[in-house]
Amino acid sequence: MSRTFSIIKPDATKRNITGSINKIIEDNHLVIVAQKRIKLSKDQAEGFYDIHKDKAFFADLIDYMTSGPVIVQVLEGDNAVEKYRKIMGTTNPENADNGTIRKEYALNIQENSVHGSDSDTNAQIEIKYFFNESEIHQ
Ligand code: CMP
Repeated sequence: MSRTFSIIKPDATKRNITGSINKIIEDNHLVIVAQKRIKLSKDQAEGFYDIHKDKAFFADLIDYMTSGPVIVQVLEGDNAVEKYRKIMGTTNPENADNGTIRKEYALNIQENSVHGSDSDTNAQIEIKYFFNESEIHQ
């Protein structure tokens, strides 16, 4: 059992499809062990995406991620990081496999509906960024 961190992004909360995304997560045997709907502040979004601060799309990414509520989640399961990345599909939905969340729901490379950690180390960092251990329940 391991954990990954997930964000259901503003394009998805705006279209009221968070339940549809959670169904795909649960149908693929990941358990949502923590979840909250929040509105990211500019500081929170910039801190979370600090690794991308030098990219051309950074300012637009921050505007988008603060444009509406998001759902932050902790997912648990076998090989959770790998499994969730497979379920999400590629960052650019044009290249995503059929049946993935991004193929089904993402609007474009930026408004791509979900975020998932890219390694176990980053999963731990990202989970801690939003959750205390006391908020996570198996
Ligand atoms: P995410 O997996 O959350 O990681 C960084 C985010 O930046 C990514 O999903 C997209 O929302 C966004 N992103 C990545 N690449 C691009 C790009 N080329 N143009 C615009 N936004 C991007």
